[in-house]
Amino acid sequence: MLGVDGIDVYYGESRVLPHVSVTVGRGEVVCVMGRNGVGKTTLLKTIVGLLTPRRGRITWEDRDITRRPPYERARLGIGYVPQGREIFPGLTVRENLMLGARRKSPSRESIDYVFSLFPALAVMLNKRGGDLSGGQQQQLAIARALMADPSLLLLDEPTEGIQPSIVEEIAAVLARIKQEGRRSILIVEQYLEFAREICDRFYVMDKGGVALQGDRHTFRVDEVSALLSV
Ligand SMILES: Nc1ncnc2c1ncn2[C@@H]1O[C@H](COP(=O)(O)OP(=O)(O)O)[C@@H](O)[C@H]1O
Ligand SMILES: [Mg+2]
Repeated sequence: MLGVDGIDVYYGESRVLPHVSVTVGRGEVVCVMGRNGVGKTTLLKTIVGLLTPRRGRITWEDRDITRRPPYERARLGIGYVPQGREIFPGLTVRENLMLGARRKSPSRESIDYVFSLFPALAVMLNKRGGDLSGGQQQQLAIARALMADPSLLLLDEPTEGIQPSIVEEIAAVLARIKQEGRRSILIVEQYLEFAREICDRFYVMDKGGVALQGDRHTFRVDEVSALLSV
C-alpha cells in the first residue's frame, strides 16, 4: 500500500502541495482530479522521487521511501506513465519497451503479457515511436511501464488529447489490470466519466490541497465538475 502523509512540496519558495495526504490500497484504483495547475503532476513526481517534499512522508509497502532515489522506487515496484507520454520518438517501439524492462532480457511472459494487453504494438515493433499516433504513443508509454511488472502504476492524464476509440482501449486495459488484482493504480484524470468508471476511490484537489474525497458510490459527476470549474 502507498501512503502519502501530509506532504508539502515547493518549487523554490512557492508551495504547490500544502499538506496533501493520499492513500492507495493493494489492488485499488484511485483517481486524482483537479483543475490545471493545482499540483496533480507534482504529486505523482513526488511519489516517484523526482521531487522531494519539505515536510511529510511517503511510505510504500511499510517502508519510508521519502528520501529514496527514483531508480530505487522503480525497483520497489512503482511504475510511472508521465503526462504527455514522453516516449523516445527516435527509438523503435521495441527499444522503447526494452528501456522499460527492469532486466536486460525481460522474460517471455512479461513480453507476452504486454502484447496481450496491447496487440497493436506487437505488429509495430520496428516502427519509430515518433511515427505512432498520439493514442498509440500513450499505449506504448503504458506498455513500457508494465514491462517492469510494477505493483503500483501511476498514470498522469492518459486520455489527454487522445482519440475516443483509443480511450476505450485504454479503459479496457485498465479494467483488465484491475480485475487481475495484482497491481494498484493511481491515475490523474480530467475525463470524469472515465474516472468514475474505473475508480474505487477518488480525490479532488484544489489550491488548498484535497478538497473532496470519496469512493465510487459517492462519486457525483456534477459535484466533482463544480469543483473543477470554479
Ligand atoms: N518545474 C516547475 N517550476 C516551477 N513551478 C512549477 C514547475 N512545475 C509546475 N510548476 C507550477 O506548479 C503548479 C502545479 O503544477 P502541476 O503539478 O503541473 O499541476 P497539474 O498537474 O495539476 O496541472 C502550477 O502552478 C505550475 O505552474
Ligand atoms: Mg499535470
